[in-house]
Amino acid sequence: MNLTHVLYAVSDRIATVTVNRPEKLNALNDAVMADIGAAMAAAQADPAVGVVILTGAGEKAFVAGADIGELAQQTVIGGKEKSLRGQAVLNLIETLGKPVIAAVNGYAFGGGLELALACHLRYAATTAKLGLPECGLAIIPGYGGTQRLPRIVGRGRALEMIMMGTPVDAATAKAWGLVNDLFEPAEFQAKVRGVATHLLTRGPLAVAMALESVLRGTSTSQEEGLRIECDLFGIVSSTADMREGLNAFLEKRKPTYKGA
Ligand code: COA
Repeated sequence: MNLTHVLYAVSDRIATVTVNRPEKLNALNDAVMADIGAAMAAAQADPAVGVVILTGAGEKAFVAGADIGELAQQTVIGGKEKSLRGQAVLNLIETLGKPVIAAVNGYAFGGGLELALACHLRYAATTAKLGLPECGLAIIPGYGGTQRLPRIVGRGRALEMIMMGTPVDAATAKAWGLVNDLFEPAEFQAKVRGVATHLLTRGPLAVAMALESVLRGTSTSQEEGLRIECDLFGIVSSTADMREGLNAFLEKRKPTYKGA
């Protein structure tokens, strides 16, 4: 895999994808987006990867948004295509089948916040700021922000963030459920890795099915969602891992899961 703007490393079953353009606060141009997509596809395909962490290089930013220089060249058709390409990368993250954690180590603006919204868990440094400034540039969020943000924080808060563009600080983001938890910058990456390590102790197929059930279920009716849940519950019940998990409890030992 040939990546220019993204660092990709796997250790202890954790893949870390680092957007690596710190001199531009990791702003997302087309090449960066393509690299994120390629790194995520690699993590998805690699059976040795159980969890993915997405973060930004440098002290200041997770990702400070889409590259404004590139946006300035945009045409009507080009804008739509750019949005579709970006949405495809974020959809891949959301449907990766393995937990993806956004480690929001600093500014998460525009496309940066949208990237984090496509992840399954979000942790922020206490110094982070999150916002959707697009309307101030006379554009709208185009990587899913108008759809995923209201589903996470509710329509009222989402509309405020989208229309006003005022960034929220980390404490507000936590209070709103926009991020799951906050960690001090000095221990940030280690704490996020701790979350990933804990996730690796869970039944991997069960985690994948739970992700699928929640994601598919929350974009359909409750009735349909309940049907999805019981179908997936049935599938999980056929796994060797389920027997291992239940037997380990009864035998008072730690389970060893094989993902089968
Ligand atoms: N696109 C392109 N370049 C960007 C960028 C973006 N979204 N965000 C930051 N940069 C670049 C700056 O132009 C600057 O480049 P330069 O040194 O060549 O001039 C560099 O990154 C550092 O940014 P700077 O603005 O000097 O840092 P700061 O600490 O003063 O401010 C921000 C940080 C995040 C508040 C500010 O960079 C900002 O508002 N960025 C744009 C955020 C945005 O609107 N994103 C949504 C786009 S749709």
